[in-house]
Amino acid sequence: MGGIQQDAQGADSPVVVVANRLPVDQITEPDGTTRWQRSPGGLVTALEPFVAGRGGAWVGWSGSAGEAPEPFESGGVSLVPVPLSDDEVDGYYEGMSNASLWPLYHDVVEKPEYHRRWWDTYVKVNRRFADRTAEVAADGAIVWVHDYQLQLVPALLRQRRPDLTVGFFLHIPFPPFELFTQLPWRSAIVEGLLGADLVGFQRPSAAVNFVQLARRLHELPARGNAIEYEGRIVTARAFPISIDVRSFDRLAGSPDVVARAEEIRKELGNPRKLILGVDRLDYTKGIGVRLSAFEELLADGVLEAPDTVMVQVATPSRERVEHYVHMRETIEQQVGHINGVYGTIGGPAVHYFNQSMPREELAALYRAADVMLVTPYRDGMNLVAKEYVAARGDLGGALVLSEFAGAAAELKQAFLVNPHDIAGVKNQLVRALRMEPAEGARRMRAMRRHLMRHDLDHWASSFFDALRAQVSGDGAEGAAGT
Ligand code: ADP
Ligand code: F6P
Repeated sequence: MGGIQQDAQGADSPVVVVANRLPVDQITEPDGTTRWQRSPGGLVTALEPFVAGRGGAWVGWSGSAGEAPEPFESGGVSLVPVPLSDDEVDGYYEGMSNASLWPLYHDVVEKPEYHRRWWDTYVKVNRRFADRTAEVAADGAIVWVHDYQLQLVPALLRQRRPDLTVGFFLHIPFPPFELFTQLPWRSAIVEGLLGADLVGFQRPSAAVNFVQLARRLHELPARGNAIEYEGRIVTARAFPISIDVRSFDRLAGSPDVVARAEEIRKELGNPRKLILGVDRLDYTKGIGVRLSAFEELLADGVLEAPDTVMVQVATPSRERVEHYVHMRETIEQQVGHINGVYGTIGGPAVHYFNQSMPREELAALYRAADVMLVTPYRDGMNLVAKEYVAARGDLGGALVLSEFAGAAAELKQAFLVNPHDIAGVKNQLVRALRMEPAEGARRMRAMRRHLMRHDLDHWASSFFDALRAQVSGDGAEGAAGT
């Protein structure tokens, strides 16, 4: 089934994308009917435009437990659903992926839990993904496996189908040796990833961490970014992910979105300054930090509501995982407290939305905001920061960005902050709010120039170029960076 993808050089090669989620989620309504909606998160944001119209296949989970629907076509892509039972959602997705690996890979912001039952389910589900992919991939296809939920798939796939070329990309950070080695199943994960020809990361430091693990844990010979493993070379390199910058720029500059941005400000009571946060509701995103910074500035009398208001959009995420349940309660209490103390009748200081919004509405919010606050404790990239910059073709607005987001390595003209340093976050927020428009335009122009050159196509084509070079024996470059 694996369709034909036109690569950057114009050569045809069948490509199969393998990711935990399909680009669409199956939703069951209270009356039992089902419908499909776009899946949450950065992986889908990045990959959807990449595969759309190129006719590949995408192997993934439908987002609900039970039987998998039959494969179907959507947006010119063959979607191949993989089933997960309730127990597997619990052990593989909510457990091993999101309560063990997710916190471990994000600097143990919350304490990871390790359970052998979760691990066994993770192995079983990774095998199922590998089996399904092996069934649908054409002879000699390129298979592109994504993210921490499927780290065993590259090796499992190689055992089943040695004819395939296998690339892997990790969308989240990859921890240093000292943290990674907590994992009881650390060797199995490294061996799983070594099944790929090319292992891609967001940051050069992550690629270095991986090479070091192969060296120190598995005593494998490695030179620069190239690891020798079972008679093959596996390359580890950074490929910072991006968005479809031009299409987001066009969307945000369209007359409807620009008009909606004005309307949003009116609906918010025409505040002088509008601060915005947009995230999946995740404890790594530092939503509490930015609420605290805003609250302290109101308490200090530096800012006043509703002269300055904050909008926080937080998409529901992983709602059955304990840390997420707890953080949602904390954030909602914090918002309630700020509004109780600083709000007025009909004029809250924080407008909080626990919902997913259409792209047009997000683009209008980006366009309306004077300051975008992106304050994760750790983030592989953070595409929201890139979307904000792409949306500001008017050169307005300012970006306050955590040093611990991958995006900070690229968006250097943002107001960079350490989210652990609340005084620093407050200072930078005030600077961003008070910045002269000319300085804002200079910063925004520089960030936009960078993004226009480092867009989604650049990301995907550099990955595929490296993968092809790797397979043709021309891959290792002697450094783990891009
Ligand atoms: P992550 O992959 O951890 O979720 P990213 O910032 O990289 O974080 O990507 C998040 C993606 O989800 C972005 O494309 C963003 O526009 C989208 N998104 C975030 N919040 C919402 C929301 N409330 N409604 C719709 N899309 C959202
Ligand atoms: O890269 C982060 C990630 O886990 C992606 O795999 C996914 O796109 C996103 O976050 C959303 O998470 P989930 O699929 O668990 O809802």
